[in-house]
Amino acid sequence: MMKKDNFQPARRRWLKRSLTVGGAAAGVATGATALASGSESLITEVQDWNRYLGDGVDANPYGMPSKFEGEAIRRDVAWLTADAKSSVNFTPLHKLEGIITPNGLCFERHHGGIAQIAPEDHRFMINGLVDTPLVFTMEDLKRFPRHNRTYFLECAANSGMEWRGAQLNGCQFTHGMVHNVMYTGVMLKDILAEAGVKASGKWLLPEGADPSHMTRSIPIEKAMDDCMVVFAMNGEALRPEQGYPLRLVVPGWEGNMWVKWLRRIEIGDQPWHHREETSKYTDLLADGRARRFTWTMDIKSVITNPSPQAPINHGRGRTVLSGLAWSGHGTVSRVDVSIDGGRNWHTARIDGPSLSKSVHRFYYEFDWDGRELFLQSRAIDEKRHIQPTKQALREARGENSIYHNNAIQTWYIAKDGTAENVEIS
Ligand code: MTE
Ligand code: CO
Repeated sequence: MMKKDNFQPARRRWLKRSLTVGGAAAGVATGATALASGSESLITEVQDWNRYLGDGVDANPYGMPSKFEGEAIRRDVAWLTADAKSSVNFTPLHKLEGIITPNGLCFERHHGGIAQIAPEDHRFMINGLVDTPLVFTMEDLKRFPRHNRTYFLECAANSGMEWRGAQLNGCQFTHGMVHNVMYTGVMLKDILAEAGVKASGKWLLPEGADPSHMTRSIPIEKAMDDCMVVFAMNGEALRPEQGYPLRLVVPGWEGNMWVKWLRRIEIGDQPWHHREETSKYTDLLADGRARRFTWTMDIKSVITNPSPQAPINHGRGRTVLSGLAWSGHGTVSRVDVSIDGGRNWHTARIDGPSLSKSVHRFYYEFDWDGRELFLQSRAIDEKRHIQPTKQALREARGENSIYHNNAIQTWYIAKDGTAENVEIS
């Protein structure tokens, strides 16, 4: 598929050159200094933070990250949308470890700004094709059995700018419309059982309480399988940005169905024609046909470090490559990594929980000999779906779509360790 001796990045044309690089080797220095070899005053001499008392326990009723971590923030791209109230910002994937996205760093996508709703004023209604239409308070909902589940949420438009060529310089911007959170809430099927769905009830229409009145059609089979109505994320109440006090969780399916500020679910016998974006969440193919109802987010991965916002600063030698992989079809069973643009693949080490429809953290440690690299990761899920190359995806889908780009990403690493978003063919 890939013409291996003809690297053509989108931005520059590369001269043909040898891309042979060293593989993983044991026992190479990490850069630690032998104490005797010089005076390391930062450890041998008393520093200010050793000498003076710090803040007391009353200084931070709600703790914030260290002041030295100011780079770990959500970022938006001003020219992407006309208005910040109907816009998106991006998770700083290159600044995260493990699999959980901290609440304050979860990307936000909303179409009518952030609704501010007092929980005592919030009501949730089930109506339509049910035996008994019901209205719940937040207290009522908390009397159903609770469940804790960790899931990724990915916007269908994640990586959408990358369809036609390498565009945005950083995994935060190319892949940052994803977050991974442990939710606490109740199973939607338990609530539906209380209302009693009629035999003719085949579709759900969840609706948000925000000004955009977000609505989406969801088939009843999904609702009865693993959908949740949640009030907490990562152990605390939902953040306003994420739909406080109540949001729908639709595991493995595209983010637009995860209605925030959830106020109502209507049961019907067919999908609805949506007031907005009726045709938007379809994938337009090269021949003019459209893929509809492409709800499951396919197998995908990205190397988060090194990457354009997180270059190699330490020079040659031991280098830790890290990234994230996820699939709406279940768990990720394997991630392969290449540092030479797909010529040679190495099985990466998945570390941390391997949960269904949740991100997986992978690592590949190698010794960098200072040569240019082309980093790629390719994930495989438990259903044996393999992440496609960009070329293969374009051959299958054309270039008209902006949704559901799960292609392999390439980062070019220059000799000075800086990284750039490129394409190779
Ligand atoms: N729900 C409401 N009520 N309003 C919205 O604008 N945006 C949707 C979805 N749910 C939206 C919404 C889209 S397109 C996405 S990708 C996800 O919420 C984003 O969820 P997040 O803001 O928690 O990242
Ligand atoms: Co979205």
